[in-house]
Amino acid sequence: MTKVVAANWKMHHGPREAAGFLTRYAAPASSRVRTLVFPPHLSIASALRCAPAAVEIGVQNIHWERSGALTGEVSAEMAREAGATLALIGHSERRHLFGESDADVERKVRAAARAGLVPVVCVGELVEERRAGKLNEVLRRQVGAFVDALAGAKEWMVAYEPVWAIGTGETATPADATEAHSIVRAALGDRSGCPILYGGSVKPANARALMEAAEVDGVLVGGASLDPVVLARIAEAAIPVAP
Ligand code: PGA
Repeated sequence: MTKVVAANWKMHHGPREAAGFLTRYAAPASSRVRTLVFPPHLSIASALRCAPAAVEIGVQNIHWERSGALTGEVSAEMAREAGATLALIGHSERRHLFGESDADVERKVRAAARAGLVPVVCVGELVEERRAGKLNEVLRRQVGAFVDALAGAKEWMVAYEPVWAIGTGETATPADATEAHSIVRAALGDRSGCPILYGGSVKPANARALMEAAEVDGVLVGGASLDPVVLARIAEAAIPVAP
């Protein structure tokens, strides 16, 4: 399977910086790696204008309604109209800083599928949950909440991001990733034929080992995705391991 390298810019790179990044980003000349970039909403238009053809642009968050009196929100349909083709859903910062629940994630997955966006759904355990031996339980609960909502989608991805590894410099080992991805795949049941990405302090130095691990189909990168040269090094690391 092709490896996926996804860049989650979070609240970084306004329209000008997004354009500069995508003008400088040297996408690997290989069909064995897909690059996805998730800019802030306001930077999607300029990202699309400057992105090399091989780069796919997604939205970092959507609301599940099509429209309404929901100040500050953006619908899946609006994101699609703006040119996004994917939607990041249930990122750990959405869940833990903005109180997004499993039920919200399910509604957003349904909305993405309705609008023709590829849902890229994030799951992952807190450090306390891991210490308490609840990895399996947490991942099964999080995946179980949205798996039926994938019915309307043509394509989807899941990103396993242990919360303790996001932005901390701590990375799960390749073996940890394989274990968690196997749980996610099992919980997906009939819908398990999709890429499962690992996220959490991925950088050029560890990207290859993570992508070589069994069950790891790619990476979701935060901090290290903000520099086009660094992201290109991560994408290049995917090529020798993509079958
Ligand atoms: P990080 O973020 O690479 O900075 O740890 C990953 C993410 O939040 O998607």
